[in-house]
Amino acid sequence: MKRIFLWSLGCLFFNTCKTSAPGFDVDRQLRYCLEQASKTLSQATDSAQMPRSIDSGRQSWRWVGYRDWTSGFWPGILWYAYDYSKAAKWKADAERFSAALFPLVDSTAIDHDIGFQLYCSAGNAYRLTRDNIYKQVLLRGADSLATLFNPKVGTLLSWPRVVPGVDWPLRHNTIMDNMINLELLFWASKNGGANYLYDIAVSHALITMKNQFRPDYTSCHVVVYDTATGQKVKAITHQGYSNSSMWARGQAWAIYGYTMVYRETKDPRFLDFAQKVTDVYLQKLPPDLIPYWDFNDPAIPRAPRDASAAAIVASALLELSTLVSDKAKGEVYREKSIDMLKELSAVTYQSGPANSAFLLHSTGHKPNGGEIDASIIYADYYYIEALLRLKHLLDQSK
Ligand code: GLY
Repeated sequence: MKRIFLWSLGCLFFNTCKTSAPGFDVDRQLRYCLEQASKTLSQATDSAQMPRSIDSGRQSWRWVGYRDWTSGFWPGILWYAYDYSKAAKWKADAERFSAALFPLVDSTAIDHDIGFQLYCSAGNAYRLTRDNIYKQVLLRGADSLATLFNPKVGTLLSWPRVVPGVDWPLRHNTIMDNMINLELLFWASKNGGANYLYDIAVSHALITMKNQFRPDYTSCHVVVYDTATGQKVKAITHQGYSNSSMWARGQAWAIYGYTMVYRETKDPRFLDFAQKVTDVYLQKLPPDLIPYWDFNDPAIPRAPRDASAAAIVASALLELSTLVSDKAKGEVYREKSIDMLKELSAVTYQSGPANSAFLLHSTGHKPNGGEIDASIIYADYYYIEALLRLKHLLDQSK
């Protein structure tokens, strides 16, 4: 009887103070990522060309230049490989692909994506090396991104280009993905950049919170504003199923974005909001925790999945789990993240021998028929980031 009591007490202790993720070998998955990245490296003969996606059933990457919005993810993956391995070989490769993006700061921002492009590459580079060249690139990139800010609206102009339904240049637009790129502004404001970069980022997060979510905290992809008055004109989708649907990656950007904004500001409004946008996403997920590309596609369960959204959320949840004051809720977020990573690491979602990406089954732009059920580089980036975050959490709790 006494032995059973002690065993129960031991289980209780183990479940509340976990020092490992039972049934999940995070080092094994990280080694897998490095093996797959080595295969991609052997195909990457030109450092100015970055792997972007592999269509379903194919093996070869589609390569893009530095101006493509996804160009920062491959150098970012190489920096994460260096972060994990500490091997000089990965650092050298990360350096040469990161340098290919430096010309982005020679002209003003094409759009908000300069944040993805530079923070994933030079941001990780500076975090790991403290090399001044990356710091200068990041500071110039942040100033360039800030030129897109419209003080009348209070947000950054995400797309200074013609997009169906968006009405630029007569009107201003802001997309949910833009939340991620506030991280570059926060970083710059703390590392020698102007204070107003911080103010712009906070303003963008608050106005987006007010205008881009429905009463149930699901997000819409795009909000169009009157440039002159700053008033909201309409909320529409571009990459989602409909104007009233929850596009999975849009909600994933919101979860990741508001978690990051709380980390940077410590303003409790953002922590509360990060949990609300997370909770509605978790409530509506299918049992395997990998979302369909849009939660409201009537073709579900025959609709394509989006592993990239799952990877973004898995990474964000690990951070959110450390920020919430309710320990039980933090534990739920962490367990959900681990379950998502387990699913992504199973044969259904890992590419394995099928191709040299890490993951299969992401959806890029369903409405225009692009990158559906594909391997996409940003899914791999957030997958390896999440694995590293989990490894650090597990190491800390040892
Ligand atoms: N930022 C574009 C996307 O999420 O597809």
